[in-house]
Amino acid sequence: MPHDTTAINKQRQDLSQHDSVWLFGYGSLIYKVDFPYLQCQPAYIEGWSRRFWQGSHDHRGTPEKPGRVLTLIETPGEICTGMAYRVSPDVFEHLDHREKNGYLRFFTPMTFSDGDKQQGLVYIATEDNAAFMGPATDAEIAKHIAQSEGPSGKNSEYLLKLAEGLEQLGVTDPHVEGIRQHLLTLLPESRQ
Ligand code: SIN
Repeated sequence: MPHDTTAINKQRQDLSQHDSVWLFGYGSLIYKVDFPYLQCQPAYIEGWSRRFWQGSHDHRGTPEKPGRVLTLIETPGEICTGMAYRVSPDVFEHLDHREKNGYLRFFTPMTFSDGDKQQGLVYIATEDNAAFMGPATDAEIAKHIAQSEGPSGKNSEYLLKLAEGLEQLGVTDPHVEGIRQHLLTLLPESRQ
């Protein structure tokens, strides 16, 4: 079921006192940067891992046939590397709309490659949101992704662009890579 979190997010943090805010991106925010930023730098957060466990009814699927996109799941001992952007607080108006299907903003500590640490915001779709799909095998997730498409394009494009973005960051994510391997065998272009 879709789950619009736009109104809740507006109430969650008062950003009016900030000149700029760090945003941590781990999914589409790595490769689809449709917002202005002041600075961007690779960073990681601790205790979280990426999982294709969130339903997408608005971007990579439809309300009738939702796709699967990333959220973060608490995983002690793991780190999740992504891209951090320093943005003006008003950019969250756009981001809240883009990430509206089940994602809530949380403050998190993030660490940059030079060891510097900053607090920033991250969008996480928690397990209690109505659009949450939960675990499945890599093969099942790949099959689901291969068959899904929404207003932002094919679900497979989300995964393949993310995999490219992670490669550019020098990151190998076994969850993403496992699904990618299955997906490549399912896509028409890889059968030619
Ligand atoms: C993110 O990229 O940080 C949030 C999830 C997404 O938009 O894919």
